[in-house]
Amino acid sequence: MIIGIALVANFAHAEDGYEFWLRYRLEADTARRNEYIQYCGGEVVAPESFKAGAAYLELKRALPAILGKAFQANNAKAGSIYVGGRNAHPAIASLVGAGELAGVGEEGFVLRTGAWEGRPATIIAANSTRGILYGTFALLRTLQLGGSLQGLHVVDAPKMRHRFANHWDNPVRGSIERGYGGKSIFDWNALPKKVDSRLNDWARMLASMRLNAVVVNNVNTAKNGLEGWRLLTPEFLPKLAALAGVLRPYGVKLYISVNFFSPSIVGSLDTADPADARVRAWWKNKAAEIYKVIPDFGGFLVKADSEGEPGPLKYKRTHAEGANMLAEALAPHGGYVYWRAFVYNAKGDRTPQAYNQFKPLDGKFAKNVFLQVKNGPVDFQVREPISTLFGAMPRTDLAVEFQITQEYTGQDRHVCFLGQMWSDVLRFPLKGEKNDARMWNTTDAIAGVMNINDSRNWTGHLLAQANTYAFGRLAWNPETSPDEIASDWVRLTFGRDPVVVKTIVSILRDSWPAYENYTSPFGIGMLCDRGKHIDPAPASRGSVHRADAKGFGTNRTAAKGSGYAGQFSEPWRSRYEKLGTCPEELLLFFHHVPYTHKLKNGTTVIQAFYDRHNEGVATARDFTERWKALNKLIDKERYEHVRKKLSEQAGHAEKWRQSINDYFEKRSGIPDAGGGS
Ligand code: GCU
Repeated sequence: MIIGIALVANFAHAEDGYEFWLRYRLEADTARRNEYIQYCGGEVVAPESFKAGAAYLELKRALPAILGKAFQANNAKAGSIYVGGRNAHPAIASLVGAGELAGVGEEGFVLRTGAWEGRPATIIAANSTRGILYGTFALLRTLQLGGSLQGLHVVDAPKMRHRFANHWDNPVRGSIERGYGGKSIFDWNALPKKVDSRLNDWARMLASMRLNAVVVNNVNTAKNGLEGWRLLTPEFLPKLAALAGVLRPYGVKLYISVNFFSPSIVGSLDTADPADARVRAWWKNKAAEIYKVIPDFGGFLVKADSEGEPGPLKYKRTHAEGANMLAEALAPHGGYVYWRAFVYNAKGDRTPQAYNQFKPLDGKFAKNVFLQVKNGPVDFQVREPISTLFGAMPRTDLAVEFQITQEYTGQDRHVCFLGQMWSDVLRFPLKGEKNDARMWNTTDAIAGVMNINDSRNWTGHLLAQANTYAFGRLAWNPETSPDEIASDWVRLTFGRDPVVVKTIVSILRDSWPAYENYTSPFGIGMLCDRGKHIDPAPASRGSVHRADAKGFGTNRTAAKGSGYAGQFSEPWRSRYEKLGTCPEELLLFFHHVPYTHKLKNGTTVIQAFYDRHNEGVATARDFTERWKALNKLIDKERYEHVRKKLSEQAGHAEKWRQSINDYFEKRSGIPDAGGGS
């Protein structure tokens, strides 16, 4: 079968960010375009089942746009794309080795070019529909980036098995917990009758990020009138089934967050005690009811005994007993429970608490339970050490949870590219640099709290799309370099002009350090307001910065502090414990030090603290200057959109600098010798 002729060659597209990184534009370099036509301008040779699927639709959408009018059927020079397993076509069997394909497992793929019957050919081979989908997106990315197809040979497979988007959307009311720039994309009232076409683009986005699972509602299911718990009612099951129907062709499994007290709020039991036979039966029946309408349902995400969400502790049962009850209900259907470890008591330092609660439960969770752990022990701060649970629970499956939505990192007002932070966490050498073990080796699942909403460009701040993209790339392969990810995202989003690429990559690269500098350097922590988490409010955060007349920072040593340092294994335990070996970026996280404590470069910590605020603001201002270089090099809409955002950011960064430096000048009585600006 042959893909239709392009209609879009010279069509002027509105550049509003809606297409995210799946912008398919005519390849401007004629030689390169001819090469593409040679390798994949002809037929798509594939099993009939493939032609009914999402990957084929994507090829139909993309190839005519990229290859242009010259892309047509029966072009004698045009090579074909062969898709499928080794049995699907002799071309595939000839160009892809059996061992090679077996090696990529269930979700990987082999993407290569070669010759078949004397003509150039492109092969997308995989062992599953999902693998084919990922291989297809990989081919399209190569074309979008203008890469050569000559000698192309990619053999790729995911490093983590379960790759999640966690939406924190509130069913029915349409708001999003910690969502910025827009409302929820899910219209629960319209479902299942009306499925917004935008949802299909959302599913495409998830698949192009190679995510294979999604949770569609907020982990808070009943707090302050939230209604996520209702998803388990019969009224909502057809709505969930409709969403699952959108996701299925894109290889994404549907999960939901559930309320632990559902047997009482959804059902009519007077208890939710996991030891009660009626409760267990209720969950079993509920699971069966769901699987009847969604046979490939993923399972449940649970926030229990945390920030007001109910849990098993009320009945004096452990987290493991609570999780295992749900796991028992899902197990016959192949479902999973993701049980969150974000559990703390507001009294005392929260950082050691999750470890103290969960470490003793290692080995007690059922096989289909993952313990979902935030990357750090506080709450998605701009800088934290990693959670001590990683590496400490060898008999429990762990999932790492990152926050893509920038709750504490500028929301939709600041650019703050988090690729480097996530990479540092995933590549953290748990047993020291000399040992090969990386944090990501201890987990087989990864979840990102999404920043997607119904604004036209999906994320509010267009540059926040780089975080969405980076999460997907790192979830697939945590060893990917953040710079490569940033550069790919820029080229996919804004095109390949070298000035454009260099400028935007430089802004992305410098944005996380800048945000850290003007808000919260040296690991001092949460200095933001208690409500929206966006403005500086150091006076209300005394329990975080612990500033007194002599010094600041929190003592978290084992010897004299809250003990977080002592939960690490060596070499980190000793390094963090001792002031002399604690990495300076985490100095105030682990230690309370005199303002006059000298850093390695001889500066006092308080002066360095002021300096970093001043530097951070200077960098934020410089972003607005750097952006000016792009005037006329990119389209006006996106140029103006980002220009305004960067200008607002520079002003807000200054507000932070002033507030924090003033506050600490007063507390310490030591003026900023640099003077700021
Ligand atoms: C943070 C955030 C909450 C969220 C919670 C969680 O505390 O501010 O909005 O519900 O994390 O991860 O459960």
